[in-house]
Amino acid sequence: MAGKKGKKKRADNRKRRKRSSISQEARQADYEKEGGVRDRCREKVKNNTLYVHIPIPYPTHFLPFTKDRKLVQQFAVQEKWPDNHDLPDVTTNDRLNVFIRTNPPTHAQKQLMGPGETGQWMLRKDWTHPEQLLALKTDGVPKYLAMRFAEVFPKKTLAKLVSLWHAALAAGVVFGETELQRFKSPALHLAIWGLSRAEPAVTADSLQTKAVDPVAAVAALDRLLGVVKREIVPVMKCLMHEHNLEAERVNKLIHARVRHVLASILKERPNLDLGGLFFAIAVKAGSSEVLHIDWNDNLHKFALIFCAGSFEGGEVCLPQLGRRIPLRPGSLLALRTRLLAHAAIVGGSGFRLVFTCFTDSLLLEQTIAGDFAYL
Ligand SMILES: [Fe+2]
Repeated sequence: MAGKKGKKKRADNRKRRKRSSISQEARQADYEKEGGVRDRCREKVKNNTLYVHIPIPYPTHFLPFTKDRKLVQQFAVQEKWPDNHDLPDVTTNDRLNVFIRTNPPTHAQKQLMGPGETGQWMLRKDWTHPEQLLALKTDGVPKYLAMRFAEVFPKKTLAKLVSLWHAALAAGVVFGETELQRFKSPALHLAIWGLSRAEPAVTADSLQTKAVDPVAAVAALDRLLGVVKREIVPVMKCLMHEHNLEAERVNKLIHARVRHVLASILKERPNLDLGGLFFAIAVKAGSSEVLHIDWNDNLHKFALIFCAGSFEGGEVCLPQLGRRIPLRPGSLLALRTRLLAHAAIVGGSGFRLVFTCFTDSLLLEQTIAGDFAYL
């Protein structure tokens, strides 16, 4: 009897394998006939994109400076930037992708930048080895200051993120003290950065040592990061591969170093490794309505911002460009947040959960200045 059953099972398995190989062949034929997923994606972006050239000088206001919170407000007064609510939207069509550029930097403006048009503060570092300069130079200057990709994340994924955020709050996740003091709606900074350390480090918010039940808090955060990693990051990678390819080489160097230095904790908590496109993620409910620069971001790396929830408004204000970019749930905004002062405005009483994915500048600088094994 057992022999008969085994024979039937093997025959079923053979049939299943045959069916799956046929469908694979059919899928491959479809893929080739239609030019492939990536080609279709490219075509979709090309036909549905608003290219905006704003005829103003390249915005180098914050290039020569290091962290100075008052500077943004000083520039706003000095340059007579309009109030966030008075800026016009770049488009009211939420289904359009939007790519924004200005005039390129002039020769004089380039003098404010270091190798590969990196910030001037980089010049103060001791970049002596040719490999270091090469690593900086190949992290090329992106063509656009901001890119919005419309409706790229499924509603189901966004709903999952909102419910996992609420689950994390219910698990007693604790916010950093400075965040609670400074912001009405504090952010959690998750995964990996290099702030004020010689080596990459897991953020304090990810470790939750001050939570009443750290194990439950960490587990809840890992579930949230898991959905970002599995369902959000692959879409981002595909889009950025297409539109910001130059940054990939440096990303790979940072990623190799991070994986080596933090090998044991990443083995235990694999969702802290978000795949190398970015290394940290700030999550907050609400919005940052105060105009600011993300001083710890990299000059030429895009911060990748997306929202979940249900709300009205959600425009990202960019006074240096004299425009706002509406950012609805499911769309992705790639923004040069070290170059462009920004704030978001949200109207009504909805719930907005915003995710800002970034690589802090120290992580990049450490990788280039540090161990040559990664160059
Ligand atoms: Fe920001």
